[in-house]
Amino acid sequence: MGWVSVQDRVNIGFACLFMVVWSVSGIGVNWGTQSTHPLPPDIVVRLLRENGFQRVKLFDAEYDTLKALGGTGIEVMVGIPNDMLATVGGSMKAAEKWVAKNITQHITSNNVNIRYVAVGNEPFLETYNGSYLGITFPALRNIQAALVKARHNNQVKVTVPLNADVYASSSSLPSDGDFRANIHDYMLTIVNFLSVSAAPFTVNIYPFISLYSDPNFPVEYGFFDGNATPINDGGTLYTNMFDANLDTLAHALQRNGFADLPIIVGEIGWPTDGDRNANLEYARRFNQGFMSHIAGGRGTPMRPGPIDAYLFSLIDEDAKSIAPGNFERHWGVFTFDGQPKYPLNLGTTNSGTLVPAKGVQYQQRKWCVMKPNAKLDDPSVAPSVNYACSLADCTCLGYGTSCGNLDSRGNISYAFNSYFQQNNQLDIACKFPNVSMITKTDPTPIGGTCKFNIMIQPYYGSAERRQSGLVAFLFLILVLGL
Ligand SMILES: *[C@@H]1O[C@H](CO)[C@@H](O)[C@H](O)[C@H]1NC(C)=O
Ligand SMILES: *[C@@H]1O[C@H](CO)[C@@H](O)[C@H](O)[C@H]1NC(C)=O
Ligand SMILES: *[C@@H]1O[C@H](CO)[C@@H](O)[C@H](O)[C@H]1NC(C)=O
Ligand SMILES: *[C@@H]1O[C@H](CO)[C@@H](O)[C@H](O)[C@H]1NC(C)=O
Repeated sequence: MGWVSVQDRVNIGFACLFMVVWSVSGIGVNWGTQSTHPLPPDIVVRLLRENGFQRVKLFDAEYDTLKALGGTGIEVMVGIPNDMLATVGGSMKAAEKWVAKNITQHITSNNVNIRYVAVGNEPFLETYNGSYLGITFPALRNIQAALVKARHNNQVKVTVPLNADVYASSSSLPSDGDFRANIHDYMLTIVNFLSVSAAPFTVNIYPFISLYSDPNFPVEYGFFDGNATPINDGGTLYTNMFDANLDTLAHALQRNGFADLPIIVGEIGWPTDGDRNANLEYARRFNQGFMSHIAGGRGTPMRPGPIDAYLFSLIDEDAKSIAPGNFERHWGVFTFDGQPKYPLNLGTTNSGTLVPAKGVQYQQRKWCVMKPNAKLDDPSVAPSVNYACSLADCTCLGYGTSCGNLDSRGNISYAFNSYFQQNNQLDIACKFPNVSMITKTDPTPIGGTCKFNIMIQPYYGSAERRQSGLVAFLFLILVLGL
């Protein structure tokens, strides 16, 4: 459904009275592709369909990805990355070209059901230090003008996915919500433009991050089980952070004269690894709790209707920056190879369970491990592990993670194997001097949570990906002198 007019909302309201449906507006999901080995787009699109996702949010406009979504009816939010904001914001011609190539072509030639353009991705995040502040609104304005010119504006709406840190409450009660003081005027310019363009506000809400960054955050308040001590906001009781956070935004909008601006939840989810609070149990509890919470078109006290939300995310991405934390590569409901991580009933499949990806091509059953006779204090061990971990993925090692209980040899082997698999099991990627070897015996410890993965076959959809793989490979040769 995606964009819902006021009239549709009324109709939905009626529909809910008469039909027993899980959630009228369905559920969306974020499909990011910052992986060393992304699954081929056709496999992912089948995964989306077989799991009943009705909407998908993309972070760019990669051609093969959009083409694969053609003819499926899945509603698509196409993203403009932050580093393109200056280009489309700086020139109307560039914005028109972006729309012609990345919207018009896919709607008219490829039958892609594009409904939104996400202009930037959390561009006002405090860590960006205001870099995108001046350029976001011009980009939004130019893209909207280009959509109008191409006559897409009735079907395709602009929006700016923002982090929930653009607003706050002075008292921590939702009813005191307002936009952050240092960006208040920018926010009103954007909000007013969205309102005039009949476009929605998109916000990303993350109770996990609150728990991660504040050890005193009341854990139960992050979930939807009603176990937290309620916050009483003038008689309205809040027992979960999601409701309180969304309503803080609703109040901020209302306070500034935009009480009716639709809100989309652009990202919501829980990671499964890389931190002691990122695990399968919490992720299942959060995502299932969220699905039940919004089921049947139930919203929050301030926004009682159906909630348009996109889970974050579909698949793990092993090449994401870990600057925010080691959990960053583990947001997927599915693993890197499209396997469900935990039981989750989205209310969209007959079986009530997640359906795994089909047709995934794996590499050979072999692993790179530490040689049994190599010594832990071999001078080659430390630099080798550092090297492997700096280029591959060691976010499952460390306190409270899935491989956090490995012994030192296990740790070392894990690092070697991660590097070996990411480099497509090349012999040369398992030549850590004197200390590594290739084995056909699965080193995965029995009975634990830790998994020594075998990588999937590389997908050569774009020339860029091929090049970055080669650069890492050359680096290995140079640095280790192999
Ligand atoms: C279309 O989107 C892609 C991917 O985000 C981008 O690289 C490309 O520059 C865009 N095309 C135009 C003409 O702006
Ligand atoms: C952020 O901006 C301030 C002032 O412009 C500057 O002093 C600081 O170094 C910047 N920080 C980062 C991380 O760019
Ligand atoms: C394994 O590696 C992790 C991450 O590098 C480290 O924190 C941990 O102490 C290591 N454990 C052992 C037993 O070496
Ligand atoms: C590997 O082992 C051999 C023999 O034990 C030794 O001479 C050589 O220096 C070692 N190489 C490295 C890089 O540790």
